[in-house]
Amino acid sequence: MANTVIVGTQWGDEGKGKIVDLLAEYSDYVVRFQGGNNAGHTMVVDGEQFVSHLVPSGIIRGNTCIIGNGMVVDPEVLINEIDYLKDKGVDVSPQRLKISEKAHLIMPYHKGLDHAREAYNKKKQIGTTGRGIGPCYEDKAARRGIRFIDMLDPEFEEKARLIAEEKNFFLEHFYKCDPVDINDMIAGFRAHRERLAPHVSDISVIIDQVLRNGKRVLFEGAQGTHLDIDHGTYPYVTSSNTVSGNACSGSGVGPKKIDRITGIVKAYTTRVGKGPFPTELFDETGDFMQEKGAEFGATTGRRRRCGWIDAVMLGNAVRLNSLTGFAVTKLDVLGGLENLKICTGYKYRGKLIEHFPTGLDVLAGCEPVYETLPGWKEDISGVSSYQELPENTKRYLDRIEQLTETPVEIISVGPGRDQTIMLNNPFRQ
Ligand code: GDP
Ligand code: IMO
Ligand code: MG
Repeated sequence: MANTVIVGTQWGDEGKGKIVDLLAEYSDYVVRFQGGNNAGHTMVVDGEQFVSHLVPSGIIRGNTCIIGNGMVVDPEVLINEIDYLKDKGVDVSPQRLKISEKAHLIMPYHKGLDHAREAYNKKKQIGTTGRGIGPCYEDKAARRGIRFIDMLDPEFEEKARLIAEEKNFFLEHFYKCDPVDINDMIAGFRAHRERLAPHVSDISVIIDQVLRNGKRVLFEGAQGTHLDIDHGTYPYVTSSNTVSGNACSGSGVGPKKIDRITGIVKAYTTRVGKGPFPTELFDETGDFMQEKGAEFGATTGRRRRCGWIDAVMLGNAVRLNSLTGFAVTKLDVLGGLENLKICTGYKYRGKLIEHFPTGLDVLAGCEPVYETLPGWKEDISGVSSYQELPENTKRYLDRIEQLTETPVEIISVGPGRDQTIMLNNPFRQ
């Protein structure tokens, strides 16, 4: 397989984990390049479910997995995840799992501030996952962050103590919240250092070596294009770049190394947290998708908002990521609906808009323009070839391809690794 980047095209939870696990078969290394444990990636292998928040989804296949420098890592969560995977018989030794020395640490005060800010002004809530992601990236940009390399430095404890004192001032006096117990925090970090230090490496050098040896690397994105800090529905976004360009900066390789960029598309649209969602459904069709698709967040357990697929969003994702193909997931969930709608444009104040608008007021005022296609009644979750799919399923896929000028290369008809149809399989090359 060529070196491939996997990104979400919508608002996350498109099924990236499943597709990364699938494509890990054709790669040697899997690198996650951004985000933290706001992500929840689910894989189902031989009926057994695995959920990962930080460890790249290639770990189940036995690939060497890398936590990239673009990630923010809560060390306690990572240790718990390593233990969870070990209990399931997965090899998560330092040979299998590497952590970039440049990745930033989520500290207890980041989580405290995330919660405090969301609670402080309920009207302006973003609906974050509360995992400290935003405050950690803030500190990274402010050059006040703590990286894995600092954890190994003897002066680390003093540095962490000073930063925590400043954060505690805000927590206590501005947000009127409990401060972080700094001695507990330092003691916790001594234990975390002990466990994680053997995994810490210069991953850019490792990846370079791997590529020189002709091995293949899969880059795993988290969240989705429309949660990107620059290109998403700001401020209702996450705090990192989720688009494919960040696969390079988030792992320390140049763009020339990337061959394919696959966008994961849920066959309908979901969103967790707040923010505009033009094709959102508030009727029984939305409930049908939510229930049949089991649309509850893998990280926070929140109910996901559901709506029709949106070709305007997908077109935006194609452009922003230079997508070479799509993997369409959860197609089985749509079975049983009489008609399916695809949003092909937006109407704003009587005018047709073809591109995803930047202004939130505009987006919130957009009325979707729909094209209606006939649905299918069949249960397609056992279908293993394209030819066997109902004609109306093929028409639905064809129309998505036409509207976005992007080929569908993978079709997913169930959560299991085997419930997948590969078309021409370009990943084998
Ligand atoms: P990610 O964050 O993009 O990795 O996606 P999540 O794991 O958060 O959410 C996707 C959910 O859909 C998970 O529970 C998957 O097991 C499940 N899933 C993935 N592909 C399919 C599919 O084709 N059909 C069905 N029914 N479920 C799927
Ligand atoms: P995966 O990788 C869906 C959403 C949150 C919130 C916003 C900001 O599983 O697709 P944050 O905690 O990042 O500051 O929250 O982003 N969000 C996700 N929604 N899937 C995710 O990840 C998400 N990660 C963050 O719900 O609206
Ligand atoms: Mg998820």
